[in-house]
Parts: sequence; structure tokens; C-alpha cells
Amino acid sequence: MKITPSILNADLANLASEVGRISNADMVHVDVMDGHFVPNLSIGLPVVESLLKHTDLPLDMHLMIESPDVWAPQYAEAGAQSVTFHIEAARAPVRLARELRRLGARSSAALNPATPVESVATMLDEVDMVLLMTVEPGFGGQKFLDLVLPKIRQLRKLIGSRDISVQVDGGVSTETIERCAEAGADVFVAGSAVYRAEDPNAMVDELRALAVR
Ligand code: DX5
Ligand code: ZN
Repeated sequence: MKITPSILNADLANLASEVGRISNADMVHVDVMDGHFVPNLSIGLPVVESLLKHTDLPLDMHLMIESPDVWAPQYAEAGAQSVTFHIEAARAPVRLARELRRLGARSSAALNPATPVESVATMLDEVDMVLLMTVEPGFGGQKFLDLVLPKIRQLRKLIGSRDISVQVDGGVSTETIERCAEAGADVFVAGSAVYRAEDPNAMVDELRALAVR
């Protein structure tokens, strides 16, 4: 069970110190948005390259962008440990997943709430993680979509005995994390839940404890 706080909800003008506040997280979830694939713009490669110099935690890149085939490998080259691209945006997802692994990163494919799990069924051997969006991507602080819970179960069935993580992202909190874990998720992004908490590290511990129950 891994907790990966999303810094989208942090004070982005003080990124290094904000990441320093979550020392007990397993990874740091970094949301890259291009204003095209999603209606919001966040940060890109130059900021991520700087951030890598300021933290020992692995970066869990979530690329909500068009043309991931072009951009995603550059995050792997920069040193991100895990790189997630959206299956809806990739032109050649199998080639891209293989390229990410060749560059030394964990490869991961993300699915929007309305995208069926079958869209990754044929390429499960190419990925280390599948991210199921539990909100429409683009913004932090949205309400968790329960309709994704059956998808988590379907995906777990498709994965079978393979060593693949199932990540959920969007609206994950002390209210919703147990449902996700029970359905089969094992990596949990938490943005506003962690960064709006008075003690972010305590919240990470609380979420982890709820997930393993
Ligand atoms: C949304 C992003 C999420 C977001 C999660 O499109 O991918 O990572 O920051 O924030 P919360 O946990 O507040 O929903
Ligand atoms: Zn995300």
C-alpha cells in the first residue's frame, strides 16, 4: 500500500519546501497538465528537473497532456522513477511503455473515468502500474466518483497474478480510501486530503493505516 501525495494542491511557489513536508510518503505525485488534454495548466519538464534536485522521494509523474509519445520519455530521462501517460492521448502506447522501461522508469497507463479497462487489457505485460482516475482529470479537490469502483475490480481480474500496481487518483481521502483498497487498489494519490491537513505526514500515516486494514 503506497501513498503518493499530489503536489498540485501544495503551494506551488514553494515547491521544494512543500515536498519536504511529506517526508514519510512513498512517492511524490506530480501532475503535468498542458491546457489541451485537460482544461488546466500546471508545471512542465524544467520545473520537474529542478524538483528532482530537491527531494530524495521518487517522482510519480502523471502526464495529463497531448502527445505523451513525445514528452513522456523526457521525464524518464530526467530521472523520474515512474511515468504515467494517458491511454486516451497516446498514439503508440505499447511502444511508449517499452521506451519508458528502456529508459529505466516504471511505465504506467492512466484511464479516465469513462475509459473502459479493456483499453489496456492487451498491453498489461508492458506496464508496471495502471492509474484509474476517480475524478475527471484537471483539478484537485473534486468529489470521488464511486462509479470507478467496479472498474478497479475488473482491472484486478484482468491483471491476475501479474505484478502490476493499481493506482487511484482523485478525491481519495479518509472517507474513500478503504473502498478503493477493498476493490483492489494499492497505490493512492491524495492531493487536497494531504495538503489541506494541518499535519500532512500524520495524514499520510492515517491514509496508509486505513488502506491496509
Ligand atoms: C487531478 C489530478 C490529481 C489531483 C488529486 O486531475 O490528477 O492528482 O491533484 O487531487 P485530490 O486528491 O484533491 O482529488
Ligand atoms: Zn494526478
